[in-house]
Amino acid sequence: MGSFPTVYTMSDAVVLVVGGGGREHALVLGLLESPSVGSIHVAPGNAGTAMNATNHAVSASDIHGLVDLAKMIRADLVIVGPEGPLVEGLSDRLREEGVPCFGPHAEGARLEGSKEYAKQMMFDLGIPTASVIRIESHDAIDSALDTFSSPWVVKRDVLAGGKGVTVTSDRVLAHATVSDAIDIDGFVLLEEFMAGEEASMLVLMDESGYVCLPASQDHKRVGEGDTGPNTGGMGAYAPAPVVTEAVKARAIEEIVEPMHIHLSSQEIPYRGCLYVGLMIDTEGSPRVVEFNVRFGDPETQVTIPLIATDLNHLLGACANGSLSEVDVKFHDSASMTVVLASEGYPKSAETGRILGGSDGCIEEGEIRGFIHHAGTRQEGGKIVSSGGRVCSATGIAPNLNEAASIAYRLIDGLELEGSHHRRDIGYRAL
Ligand code: AMP
Ligand code: GLY
Repeated sequence: MGSFPTVYTMSDAVVLVVGGGGREHALVLGLLESPSVGSIHVAPGNAGTAMNATNHAVSASDIHGLVDLAKMIRADLVIVGPEGPLVEGLSDRLREEGVPCFGPHAEGARLEGSKEYAKQMMFDLGIPTASVIRIESHDAIDSALDTFSSPWVVKRDVLAGGKGVTVTSDRVLAHATVSDAIDIDGFVLLEEFMAGEEASMLVLMDESGYVCLPASQDHKRVGEGDTGPNTGGMGAYAPAPVVTEAVKARAIEEIVEPMHIHLSSQEIPYRGCLYVGLMIDTEGSPRVVEFNVRFGDPETQVTIPLIATDLNHLLGACANGSLSEVDVKFHDSASMTVVLASEGYPKSAETGRILGGSDGCIEEGEIRGFIHHAGTRQEGGKIVSSGGRVCSATGIAPNLNEAASIAYRLIDGLELEGSHHRRDIGYRAL
């Protein structure tokens, strides 16, 4: 294990971002504005990151390849976007090589890797969350469904990018979903339904302290009015007014503090982003829907632009265990991102289609807008779609109304055959 300076004061830093989605493009754009950054590398990246950094053809699931790449480019910091490589131990391997990594070790990543493990930790620490029943046999399904009233929440204990959860008022469907999951995985979780409004709190955390970034709200359902199947996220905005100062204070006291005390007392401390998915009821009581061990996507696209502090210093300090020494500042702005999805998403995705207008950007004083690439690649001088979520249009402005008009102005300039996007991102706040 290498030794790291207590205070992270790197300049001309070489930074490697792992992943290839909109979240990673947002991290790259944030790092571009960091005076302390010398060069930015991405593995594998997308057509957007290729314009702002150096892409490397190493998959985010190739742990050996990523460690070799970090050593080859002499990375001062590796920032891991997706959860997969964290669960597979990328952070542990990098730390063994003396490379600071923003993103927790494999044990820390189990918080996202296993919903059952996360639930147990919440129950042990007294953190407010929905109660749960583990179902292993087909004979136990009906009595479990009787325990909770409709709607039923069925969760497979697998990494499924937010798509392993079924919320339904249809008992026949709930029964079938539970039954299928038992056949595939051997067991499934049935959760009490929590009513309320959701918000995402991204918390930077290491053993020295934690920093709550401005709360955001993601729109997970594919259809307007939050209808239809769950997706990886169709848009987001920040700050989310549902997280009032009072709600934030309760979330910190009841959730973040106990998690920080627990995670920082582990043999290997948690260093990275703890994504707290909150359900806030009408009384303003927050409960945990889920923990993720990484930045959210698309929450990152609306959160990073609100951070005024040098992003490399901030995330580097966290990777080195000296977060409490950074004075973190935020812009007094609002932001919104609207996702452009491929035809068929989320069930399937028609890819390989030409994306037009993705170089759109707006810069009018305090008002800014740009396109975050996600499932895109370059092909013969053109940008073509390569995933379900192709890109998102992001606006940053003094207030949410203006941020929304920028985001929608930009998305209206995009051209992708068969694509769809929601017209109502941020409706709860506007
Ligand atoms: P998860 O992957 O656990 O975040 O679940 C995906 C989505 O399902 C969440 O963002 C919620 O919209 C919904 N959900 C999950 N668990 C619950 C619950 N216990 N009560 C209500 N909605 C839930
Ligand atoms: N936007 C939800 C997630 O990143 O899990």
